Amino acid sequence: MKPIDLRSDTVTLPTPAMREAMYRAELGDDVFGEDPTVNHLQEMAAERMGKEAALLVVSGTMANLVSVLTHCGRGDGIILGDQSHILLNEGGGSAALGGAYLRVVPTLPDGKLDPQVIERAIPVPDIHHPRIKLVCLENTHNYCGGTVLDARYTASIADLAHRHGLSLHVDGARIFNAALALGVPARDLAAPADSIMFCLSKGLSCPVGSVICGSSEFINEARRMRKMVGGGMRQAGVLAAAGIVALEHMVDRLQEDHDNARFLAQGVAEIPGLKVDLSSVQTNIVFFDFVAKHMTVDQFVGGMWEQGVWMMALGPSRIRAVAHYGIEKGDIEQALRVMRRVLG
Ligand SMILES: Cc1ncc(COP(=O)(O)O)c(C=O)c1O
Repeated sequence: MKPIDLRSDTVTLPTPAMREAMYRAELGDDVFGEDPTVNHLQEMAAERMGKEAALLVVSGTMANLVSVLTHCGRGDGIILGDQSHILLNEGGGSAALGGAYLRVVPTLPDGKLDPQVIERAIPVPDIHHPRIKLVCLENTHNYCGGTVLDARYTASIADLAHRHGLSLHVDGARIFNAALALGVPARDLAAPADSIMFCLSKGLSCPVGSVICGSSEFINEARRMRKMVGGGMRQAGVLAAAGIVALEHMVDRLQEDHDNARFLAQGVAEIPGLKVDLSSVQTNIVFFDFVAKHMTVDQFVGGMWEQGVWMMALGPSRIRAVAHYGIEKGDIEQALRVMRRVLG
């Protein structure tokens, strides 16, 4: 039987329409700017985010790295949250490859950074102090459980950053989930940011790819940085073709994932030994706590694994489950049955 894989929305497989589009894609050399399918995807992405230009890169990690390299020189500083993906899960690339100074501030439980804390983290210009150039936000916020940042909050952080001569980058890996949850176009959430990236290879189900969006000047420089880190791709239209299908057909269906995540969370809330904060379940990600005493979290997750339900243990008591394309309501019902059975 096919496992019910709830570990991440990155496990999604391309749709038949994507495979067909990839097969038929018109191609050229994208390092020369001559791949028509890449160019079309980039125009679509820029339009969706309300920015002048866009750049296709291989991954969300590369999108954030290239954005950081474009905003910051060596020794320049980034203010970012202690639960941010850029800090925790991207191999330390901003520091290792970009030489960036990371000024880490607490991430609030809803994924926000406190504006007063950001303000205090920006030093006055002085030869003793690092030069802070960038603030990074994450929308939706992965480790806060897929929580959303609304346009007003993002604009307030952008205003603060700009007042101090800093830029704002949004890690919008799942920005379309945020837009859907808030009932606004994604471009409203992107508008305050100087740069934003989003992933094609998560809920949107593409096999590969993320897109950075910003001003034409920013994207021209980002193209140079992408080349520098070895991310210049040649006939990348085979990947972009899937991205076009994703933007045309896979955005609205994310609602199904949000509904399934909520259904899962409501079920988890009724299982003794598990605890979930339903207010944190805003999009397709469900974090819950394992509080049962008669087994460990690893035994629980391992027991589910053996019965074909795959989730991710993150830390001594936290478990993450993510709804995505390929997961139906019936799969969630089965997952809940297996959870109850394994807990005994
Ligand atoms: C918020 C966030 N940003 C960036 C990334 C990195 O994306 P990728 O796995 O494509 O490098 C992820 C991946 O899960 C993510 O959740």
